[in-house]
Amino acid sequence: MLKLAVLVSGSGSNLQAMLDRKAQGLLDVDFRLVLSNKADANGLERARAAGIPALAIDHRQFPDREAFDAAMVAAIQDHGADAVALAGFMRMLTPTFLHAFPGRVLNIHPALLPSFPGIHGQRDAAEYGVTIAGCTVHLVDEQMDHGPIIIQAALPVPSGADGETLAGRILAWEHRIYPQALQWLAQGRLRLEGRHVRVEGSPCPDVARVPGSHCGEALVHPPLEPGF
Ligand code: GAR
Repeated sequence: MLKLAVLVSGSGSNLQAMLDRKAQGLLDVDFRLVLSNKADANGLERARAAGIPALAIDHRQFPDREAFDAAMVAAIQDHGADAVALAGFMRMLTPTFLHAFPGRVLNIHPALLPSFPGIHGQRDAAEYGVTIAGCTVHLVDEQMDHGPIIIQAALPVPSGADGETLAGRILAWEHRIYPQALQWLAQGRLRLEGRHVRVEGSPCPDVARVPGSHCGEALVHPPLEPGF
């Protein structure tokens, strides 16, 4: 069972997708802690509703990023977690944090990295005029939205879509690929080879075209497994 802490700064819909997958019996994750830098983050409410310890640590109370990260590491370790999922956590992590959980910090980004990193990925993609957008789950390193990629979903951009429309369509796919990536981590199936992440036993080497029931179609690679 993966002993996981989830870090949120806002709505927490990706956290909710994880909780829903767990409730469906698809995710071998023991949610030890949900942590936020904002006391009013809705994600903390979602955690409490699910009976998961929820904690806010205000980054503004620390002299620098290292001190804030050290406090988060202590809280996460106190709760027995040894892996971390960033789910809309809008702060950069320092080596102090990353060295505490080597190769075990994941992030989701609402764009096809390496395009459109940053806090406005969907808006930047819409304004740029891309015709294919998407989302990426990756391992976190010391650069923003940069580490080795685990899974991506690519979807067509409807003509005339603005950043907000696009964000909604992308979010529906975030909710599918992030729990899948976490389940691979939980199963010990992620192998890092340089910048490349290989999913052991991924059933099909080809790109999977997934008809989405409620969110259109996307190309997802590696393919989602049954239930995701
Ligand atoms: C998600 O769209 C996530 O990809 C994005 O924040 C949103 C959080 O939503 N993260 C980033 O932009 C990271 N660079 P949520 O709180 O509803 O899960």
